[in-house]
Amino acid sequence: MTVIVTGGAGFIGSNFVFHMLDKHPTYRVVCLDKLTYAGNLSTLAPVMEAPNFRFVRADICDREAVNRLFAEERPDVVVNFAAESHVDRSIEDPGVFLQTNILGTQTLMDACRKYGVARYHQVSTDEVYGDLPLDRPDLFFTETTPLHTSSPYSASKASADLLVLAYHRTYGLPVTISRCSNNYGPYHFPEKLIPLMIANCLHDRPLPVYGKGENVRDWLYVEDHCKAIDLILHNGRVGEVYNVGGHNEMRNIDIVKLICRKLGKPESLITYVTDRKGHDMRYAIDPTKIHTELGWLPETKFEDGIQKTIDWYLENRDWWETIISGEYMHYYEKMYGNR
Ligand code: NAD
Ligand code: DAU
Repeated sequence: MTVIVTGGAGFIGSNFVFHMLDKHPTYRVVCLDKLTYAGNLSTLAPVMEAPNFRFVRADICDREAVNRLFAEERPDVVVNFAAESHVDRSIEDPGVFLQTNILGTQTLMDACRKYGVARYHQVSTDEVYGDLPLDRPDLFFTETTPLHTSSPYSASKASADLLVLAYHRTYGLPVTISRCSNNYGPYHFPEKLIPLMIANCLHDRPLPVYGKGENVRDWLYVEDHCKAIDLILHNGRVGEVYNVGGHNEMRNIDIVKLICRKLGKPESLITYVTDRKGHDMRYAIDPTKIHTELGWLPETKFEDGIQKTIDWYLENRDWWETIISGEYMHYYEKMYGNR
């Protein structure tokens, strides 16, 4: 069994590569990644020499490179994590989001058709459903909730999802889609809420909370997401969408205060800054379908997952300090300088 994992040098993709090599030692895992600012080859160092692992630097929009790799590897399964993934960046510059997230998906699916791939899995997001109001805690996203996007990022992901379902209906491509809530854990790029707050705390820098910090996200430990995708690949029904999330809703401000407490830093570091444009209020997944059909449930409690995550950032300072010392500083200054 050969599995191509696109975006495997990023946060969730790298965790998935480790998961697959560990749980399925007989599989061949091939990572295709462009190594954008969010991709980091050092993340994959522990598996680089493994005989059943191969890394290829390429853009999923590059039809020639993608076809060449498919011709060489003849994959059975393709799992597409490759994407521009940060909402704030999509608000600043949407173009690359449409390019990678939509056209890149098309390029991969065309190659899957050409080379008769047995399963194409699209890693999508709960953001395609838009948001829920804070005063209706009884509402959750199900797989039939209408798509109703807020940001250029989520619009690009929703467009890709529609294209994936269209390729299934029109060409019979064997696809599955997972729509997951917010992940956290090791190798999370420090532009995102949890790693940004950990890194800023450790540098005694201000902790920029958007608006009032009342927005709610449904946090899932990254390994639980990887297990869900693995289950969908093996037991999921072709043509189906599976929501992935764990009834772990938390307000941003509560997460930031928790990180301060755990790192022994004062809450006076918290700085309320101008809100994100079009900021989604609440995400909340109903995971009934994946639970009843595939038996999936999140295994990591938030208290344990956040402790493991903080410990990982404490023990792997080189990984994130290298990232935030380079190009990232320009990004940070642009996004937060006059906010
Ligand atoms: P990330 O930004 O950490 O990693 C993205 C990876 O894709 C990087 O390695 C990057 O180099 C690569 N990439 C970007 N453009 C590429 C291109 N054109 N060709 C090849 N590789 C390219 O993202 P992440 O947080 O790991 O998210 C992975 C996927 O999961 C995305 O599709 C995202 O939409 C989805 N998702 C993320 C979350 C989350 O909480 N992070 C939740 C649900 C779904
Ligand atoms: O729900 C899944 C999505 O989760 C994924 O599809 C995206 O790829 C992923 O980036 C994430 O999107 P969010 O916008 O929810 O994540 P982010 O970490 O950017 O922000 C989480 C919340 O924290 C959000 O309400 C905005 C807020 N925030 C974020 C940053 C970076 C702050 O208050 N301050 C910050 O500096």
